[in-house]
Amino acid sequence: LQVSPFIAALPKVELHVHIEGTLTPSLRWKLAQRNKVPLPYATYDELLESYNVLYNHRKELHGDNGAPTFLETYFAGTQVLCQEQDFYELGMAYLEKAAELNIRYAEPFFDLQAYLPRGIPAATVLDGYMRAQREGAERFGVRSNWIMCFVRDRPVEEGIAAYEAARPWARVPGGRGLFHAVGLASNEYDRPPMLFEEAFRMAKQDGLHVTMHCDVDQKDAPTHIHEALFTVLDGRGTDRIDHGLNALDRPELLQGLIERQIPLTLCPHAYHRRQATEVLFPKLRKLWDMEGVKWCVNSDDPTYMHDVWIDGALEKVYRYCGLSKADMVRLSRNAVEISWAEAEVKTELL
Ligand code: HPA
Ligand code: ZN
Repeated sequence: LQVSPFIAALPKVELHVHIEGTLTPSLRWKLAQRNKVPLPYATYDELLESYNVLYNHRKELHGDNGAPTFLETYFAGTQVLCQEQDFYELGMAYLEKAAELNIRYAEPFFDLQAYLPRGIPAATVLDGYMRAQREGAERFGVRSNWIMCFVRDRPVEEGIAAYEAARPWARVPGGRGLFHAVGLASNEYDRPPMLFEEAFRMAKQDGLHVTMHCDVDQKDAPTHIHEALFTVLDGRGTDRIDHGLNALDRPELLQGLIERQIPLTLCPHAYHRRQATEVLFPKLRKLWDMEGVKWCVNSDDPTYMHDVWIDGALEKVYRYCGLSKADMVRLSRNAVEISWAEAEVKTELL
């Protein structure tokens, strides 16, 4: 997929990217050696091959064919991250790449619970990301506010404990300001948003924003969107929905998005791995033409998704939704408006 010069040059904002999903094979190889973490691959070529994970959410969806799932591949990658410097380098690699892609502002997700159970202190992870946040803005001009995800297939109490450990790095009074929101990610099979209501309540009370994944075509996807919109914290629980494309399945969900003004962070390339062009892009076009539904385009886990980054995802929408250049500029502006950037940053970006 050739990215057109117009899309390449478009100023961008990215609101749905998992920092662990930007780990390149080369950085992973380097960190494995540096930290003496054994990889289940004998050669660099075998490691590269492992990134060829086609969409395979067997446990997330139904059935089991024995192959590693997407999320197993993604979490396997996190094993090489151990030292503060590693997290810093991962963060810097993304922000440097982001600058090349003309991303001006980003809100990367991180999964603290991938590290705490291995005995890595929260400070190691968060100091590393915070150093990248600061230096990435200075050196590459990419500002970022980060989002701590609850890993929803792990125990709720573990998520709450992780949040409490991370709180000094949150944008709270007296906090260090790395992250300004919490999210909900990982395998959502039988893990509805309501399970995490208490965790969301804590974050809200701390003045943080809340978002949650309602991934496309998961079992119970419409039910999870319904909960996110109407049930969690009496319908005031979430400020955005990550993915949420299945809102198209039920009129009351679209109505809820419009009435509550809940935007969607969509990742078209992620869906394109398992939906045909002529099935997927008309859905996005329908959302584009719908009054009052706001969405933006993002990458999700670019290194685990055929190395397609936000520019590739935007190119697909540009081509297959039949949007004009003016539409694409409007889509880019949507991302600024949907973001939780500080008011003065937003003004500058618009
Ligand atoms: N789905 C759910 N959670 C995730 C993903 C995903 O594709 N990537 C990183 N966390
Ligand atoms: Zn995601």
